[in-house]
Amino acid sequence: MTSDDHSVTTAIDAAGYGTLRHAVELALQAPSVHNTQPWCWQIGSDRIELFADRNRRLVGTDPDGRDMLISCGAALHHVRVALAGLGTASVTERLPDPENRDHLATVRPVPGRPDPADSALFAQLGRRHTDRRPFAPVPISPAAVRVMIDRASRAGALLLPVTDPTALARLRVVLSDAAASQPHRPGYLSELLIWTHRYANARDGIPATSVPSRTVHDAEHLKRFPSGRLQAQPSVGQDGGLLLALATTGDDSLSRLCAGEAMSAVLLSATRSGLATTPLSQALEISEIRERIRTVALHIPEYPQLIIRIGHLAPGAAPLPATPRRPLASVLQR
Ligand SMILES: Cc1cc2nc3c(=O)[nH]c(=O)nc-3n(C[C@H](O)[C@H](O)[C@H](O)COP(=O)(O)O)c2cc1C
Repeated sequence: MTSDDHSVTTAIDAAGYGTLRHAVELALQAPSVHNTQPWCWQIGSDRIELFADRNRRLVGTDPDGRDMLISCGAALHHVRVALAGLGTASVTERLPDPENRDHLATVRPVPGRPDPADSALFAQLGRRHTDRRPFAPVPISPAAVRVMIDRASRAGALLLPVTDPTALARLRVVLSDAAASQPHRPGYLSELLIWTHRYANARDGIPATSVPSRTVHDAEHLKRFPSGRLQAQPSVGQDGGLLLALATTGDDSLSRLCAGEAMSAVLLSATRSGLATTPLSQALEISEIRERIRTVALHIPEYPQLIIRIGHLAPGAAPLPATPRRPLASVLQR
């Protein structure tokens, strides 16, 4: 055994199977499109492996599987943050098996100190929730936005705050167009219905308690779900949320996986700064509209992967309930 082999063995012993298992359990809190949780995992004695679960892809809503890969990217980032918070440094190999493109990543514990930027997000894993309520018209600290931009960049993505009034107006129009046109696309409405009306005790999907009732929230550009039961919070008038576009230089599977990792880093970082967040994918799910976002609203050469809304809740807004998750036993691949 070389000294390198010895130090790797020591890192694995220090991490231990229990730590790897615990990290995956924490990573299940990751956000996913319609809370489909389109992932499965293998946990070995020296590695964690992440796979896409194509049976959970939204065939009508997400025809090319982009949302699925972004969701899995978020789970991948979550597992690294969980390992770091549990004191374990790790390395990640993405798309390690050319024969199996659903094998998205292998994460291995390694000797050394975990990345402090990841450890710093550990406490946010269970605190982040998608908040669809209107946000208060309170400015967001530029320093907090800079941290998010930096986090996205470290994950290989570009985060662009949309503050220019013309670009913002164009983006809102495009988002509204997507909200109006997507219901006419084959399969979309039935998937929306399936994932917002799960059976009692379901461990996936979006509960009505996480969706505002139409009386609370009906900004055209944010419309997506049927009216829910999320009620009463102090009125804030027009939504004061900041919209940010997450984009990548490529548009292949690796880019989309990295976009998901970046999204996770941005959402957790915003949560750490006391901000509420909403990932918005609807307009990106329609290829013509996605192209309009790139060329008409944002004027960028990169590929937009997601819009993220961040903002302050009105003082006194009730905390959001957590959405359900499938237990570890249901997502472990044997
Ligand atoms: C790729 C992706 C796309 C999403 N798109 C939307 C969206 O368009 N609108 C929305 O309100 N929420 C969207 N979400 C948020 C999910 O609905 C949410 O993560 C899921 O219901 C789990 O709830 P949680 O985030 O509160 O844990 C998206 C999440 C991901 C990862």
